[in-house]
Amino acid sequence: MHYVKCAVLSLPQLFVFVSRPLNLLCLALSFTGSLQQRIIGGQEVEPYSIKYQASIQYNNYHYCGGTLIHRQWVVTAAHCWRPYLIKVVLSEHNLSSKEGVEQVFNVSRVLVNYMYSYRTFDSDIMLLKLEKPAELNANIQPAVLPTSLAPLQGGTVCTVSGWGVTQVYSYYLSPVLRAVDVQIIPQCQYYYYYRITDNMVCAGSPLGGKDSCQGDSGGPLICNGYFEGIVSWGISCANKYFPGVYTKVRNYVSWINWIIDNDSIS
Ligand SMILES: *[C@@H]1O[C@H](CO)[C@@H](O)[C@H](O)[C@H]1NC(C)=O
Ligand SMILES: *[C@@H]1O[C@H](CO)[C@@H](O)[C@H](O)[C@H]1NC(C)=O
Ligand SMILES: *[C@@H]1O[C@H](CO)[C@@H](O)[C@H](O)[C@H]1NC(C)=O
Repeated sequence: MHYVKCAVLSLPQLFVFVSRPLNLLCLALSFTGSLQQRIIGGQEVEPYSIKYQASIQYNNYHYCGGTLIHRQWVVTAAHCWRPYLIKVVLSEHNLSSKEGVEQVFNVSRVLVNYMYSYRTFDSDIMLLKLEKPAELNANIQPAVLPTSLAPLQGGTVCTVSGWGVTQVYSYYLSPVLRAVDVQIIPQCQYYYYYRITDNMVCAGSPLGGKDSCQGDSGGPLICNGYFEGIVSWGISCANKYFPGVYTKVRNYVSWINWIIDNDSIS
């Protein structure tokens, strides 16, 4: 069984996590666990230091991350699509306090990549157009899309961030934004028995213990300053035999640019 890394909170204090293989349903789990933390193996970031980080929320509850790439566009995972009104929050740190610097947006367009497969998670990428452009400031700046064609080398150190659970099987999101350094894991097919497509890249720790997890879905993996991955799926979390699987953003740069350019003309 494998898991999508999104979390849905449908009711106050009823965290839903998503687990799921064949059909992307996020299952609702009532929560009975004990208190736990976030992104696995990482630490709380300096507030607002990850300036492109977005929180995607439904009914004021965070359920997925996202990445600002343009004043009016956020990239997230296709499996974070929901049939209802969602909001995007920028300049967020502590989800449970109104810090006064947050910028909250309705979404005016939602574009799931036309190649997305909910069975294989291939092309797990979606673009959200903010109803109004974000006001860029010291806390809000877009991430840089990859330009290099040189392959991402195994061992490259990258940073993934989010409000996801801090322990495997936890139902609690992290209240504050966390990040962890992971490395690109080559030969990922070996771990996932050929379920890794050319549109996916794996990252984790050779020793395990560091990973993204439920609630981090859709969020950014940044390598050498470039936005290279979107938190997508994995078997369990932080297990050394199953690295995190990310959508390979560099394969979608022309799609992203095409959508944004086409939209600005029309
Ligand atoms: C987040 O904000 C809440 C509400 O203000 C506060 O109780 C909590 O301590 C904060 N969490 C952290 C980790 O700063
Ligand atoms: C989003 O849209 C709703 C419904 O049209 C509106 O009530 C709300 O004020 C809007 N929120 C923002 C942040 O623009
Ligand atoms: C591209 O622009 C055309 C003309 O404005 C519009 O009809 C179409 O929906 C756009 N396509 C996408 C994918 O945004």
